[in-house]
Amino acid sequence: MTTTTGAELRVLPSGGALGAEIRGLDLGRELAPEQVKQVRAALLAHCVLVFRDQRISDEDQVRFTSYFGRPVEHVRKQRERRVKEIFIISNVKENGEPIGALGSELIDFHSDLSYLPRPGTISLLYAVEIPPAGGDTQWCDGRAAFDALPPERQAELRKLRAVHRHHVDEQNPPEPTIHPVVRRHPETGRPSLYVSPHLTHHIHGVSEEESRAILAGLYAHMDQPQFVWTHRWRVGDLVMWDNRPTSHRRLPFPDDQRRIMNRTQIFGEEVVE
Ligand code: SIN
Repeated sequence: MTTTTGAELRVLPSGGALGAEIRGLDLGRELAPEQVKQVRAALLAHCVLVFRDQRISDEDQVRFTSYFGRPVEHVRKQRERRVKEIFIISNVKENGEPIGALGSELIDFHSDLSYLPRPGTISLLYAVEIPPAGGDTQWCDGRAAFDALPPERQAELRKLRAVHRHHVDEQNPPEPTIHPVVRRHPETGRPSLYVSPHLTHHIHGVSEEESRAILAGLYAHMDQPQFVWTHRWRVGDLVMWDNRPTSHRRLPFPDDQRRIMNRTQIFGEEVVE
């Protein structure tokens, strides 16, 4: 297979706290080691990378994912499909059965698979069909949100741990999953807030009332324009993101409109403080 060569890889930062577009790569081809290195460096810096106008097969997406770790089948079961590592996110139904997961409603901020002891590291979504309006995805920069807090609040938060739980009970492991509220990125060393309204259940070891107050304060702080970046999808976009310092939210869209996304993921890394 030919590798992407010639055109220089260019990184165009979004201008927000996170997010950048990568130009000059055709993900339908193998990448050279130097290109993979550049993409990895851009991901660590910008947390969310957008590759526009890609025409890729399921196998191409799995190959691209494998440059950054081992693509794993999603923990949620889906109907038979040709390439098992592809998890379909869609509201489309065929013969009355959903072809994928997550429907068309708001999916509030979360970091992928944080209800597992070894949660999501990197996720990739490829846009196959996009509704004319709605269904944007937003990412929150947990690093910038942490950095913006006063040092004494940062020190308090570093002592806290939170229980994460999926609302579909059978997806949860037998023992409650507890993660630090502030996690450290194993590669960059940067601390970031690691709580989210969709998957964080409560703060461990404090009263229900105190837990609610702490989490409400953190969510209000994190959901500010300077920490959040919105991606308006186009067919052919591939977006990859680092779940360790970020959380993301899928905005709702009309259920009579079709949205089909192919997702791959890498998970299984321990959360470090
Ligand atoms: C997700 O929440 O992981 C899906 C995001 C999306 O469909 O845009």
